[in-house]
Amino acid sequence: MSVRRLAPKEQQPESFAFSEENLAWARKQIAQYPEGRQASAAIAILWRAQEQHDGWISEAAIRTVADMLDMPYIRMLEIATFYTMFQLQPVGRKAHIQVCGTTPCRLRGAEDILAVCKSRIHHEPFHLSKDGDFSWEEVECLGSCVNAPMVLIWKDTYEDLTKENFGKVLDGFASGQPPKPGPQIDRQFSAPVGGLTTLNTAAKGDGGRRSAAQPALTDADAKKPTDSASRRESPMPKPPADDATRKGKT
Ligand code: FES
Repeated sequence: MSVRRLAPKEQQPESFAFSEENLAWARKQIAQYPEGRQASAAIAILWRAQEQHDGWISEAAIRTVADMLDMPYIRMLEIATFYTMFQLQPVGRKAHIQVCGTTPCRLRGAEDILAVCKSRIHHEPFHLSKDGDFSWEEVECLGSCVNAPMVLIWKDTYEDLTKENFGKVLDGFASGQPPKPGPQIDRQFSAPVGGLTTLNTAAKGDGGRRSAAQPALTDADAKKPTDSASRRESPMPKPPADDATRKGKT
């Protein structure tokens, strides 16, 4: 991991203030914790500050959040500089690309994706492209190994990448029309390439009820672009109709 320092003084804004909406949201977060434990909201509020401030967190924002939580500045600086999810210097206006460089992605072609970043954005990570629209960095596993290689851009993952389709992803962000997140090949979620090869017929004896009750997910069920990653991608499973517990029969 590289040394993480705050952006130089000349890039730091004088001050930071939450928008009204974000301030109300932050106060709600703080109120969730018992008296004396407000510092527990630090990461959530720092993250919101980063989202409001063009994808990076300034020294002024760090101090503002520390004041809100009544924490010493050094504690908030420790948090912001420790967690690599916090960007400490300006990132691309249109996209900051986080390229997974861990083993499964490496074995499946992450090197090609990094090469595209180096040639199209900047040969060094954490540097802005000439027009200031893009930046990139290499990160550790982002949990989409089954769709390797992949990148994270803002809140969305772009998966099953090749040099060619990753180039199109960048073109989409450059033109203000990002492509649909998820697999960039003909593949649904992490299902086998080319369609289901197992469990593709109703089980014997269930009269097809299973497939009727739990229809296959479609693209419409996927997380919408820019939704937070914690949103469920499928409806909550329902208990069987004759579940005695659910009917209070126990
Ligand atoms: S190794 Fe790349 S997402 Fe896990």
